[in-house]
Amino acid sequence: MSISLIVAMDRNNLIGRSGELPWYIPADLKRFKELTKWGVVVMGRKTFDSIIARIGTPLPNRINVVVTRDTSYSYEWVVIAHSLDIALGNARLFGGRDIWIIGGAEIYRQALESKIPDHLVITRIDRDHEGDAWFPTVPPEYTLTSTEPGGEYWHYEAWTKK
Ligand SMILES: NC(=O)c1ccc[n+]([C@@H]2O[C@H](COP(=O)([O-])OP(=O)(O)OC[C@H]3O[C@@H](n4cnc5c(N)ncnc54)[C@H](OP(=O)(O)O)[C@@H]3O)[C@@H](O)[C@H]2O)c1
Repeated sequence: MSISLIVAMDRNNLIGRSGELPWYIPADLKRFKELTKWGVVVMGRKTFDSIIARIGTPLPNRINVVVTRDTSYSYEWVVIAHSLDIALGNARLFGGRDIWIIGGAEIYRQALESKIPDHLVITRIDRDHEGDAWFPTVPPEYTLTSTEPGGEYWHYEAWTKK
C-alpha cells in the first residue's frame, strides 16, 4: 500500500476555476480513472461537491473519503473524516488498497506540508488558463523519477519522496 497524490496543473500551477477543472482533457480523466480504480480516494469537501455536480455520484469503484470540518455532514456510501490525518487513518483500514489524495488545493497544500504522499503523479498542461485554485511548489523532498508523453499539449510526471 502506498499513498500517492494525483493532480493536473497548468504551467502556472493552476488546478481549478469556480469549483471545477479549468480544462476538459478526456484522456487525462481516463488515466485518472484507471490509476485510482479499486483504491481509496481522499478529497476535500469542495472537490467532492464538484464531483457530485459533474457525475451525480461519488467516484465509482473506489472508496471515497471526504474531509470536512462540518460534523453534521454525511453522504451515502462515503466515509467522512474531520481532519486529513483521520481521513488517512480511515483509508488505511481498507487493507492493501492504494490511497490516492485527489485534491483540491487546500488538501494538496496540507498533504505536502506534512510530506504525506510517497509519490506525486502529475499531469503538466503546457497552457495558461484563468482560475482561482493553485497547486503549491513541489517541496525539495521530492525528486522527479520519470516523464511520459501525454498528448499534444500535456505530459505526465512521476515524483517520489527521497
Ligand atoms: N486539477 C486537479 O487535478 C484538481 C483536483 C481536485 C480538485 N481540483 C480543483 O480544486 C478546487 C477545489 O479546491 P479547494 O481548495 O477550494 O477545496 P478542497 O481542498 O477540495 O476542499 C476544501 C474543504 O475541505 C475541508 N477541509 C480542508 N482541510 C481540512 C481539515 N484539515 N480538516 C477538515 N476539513 C478540511 C473543508 O470542508 P468544509 O468547508 O466542508 O469544512 C474545506 O472547505 C476546485 O476548483 C476543483 O475543481 C483540481
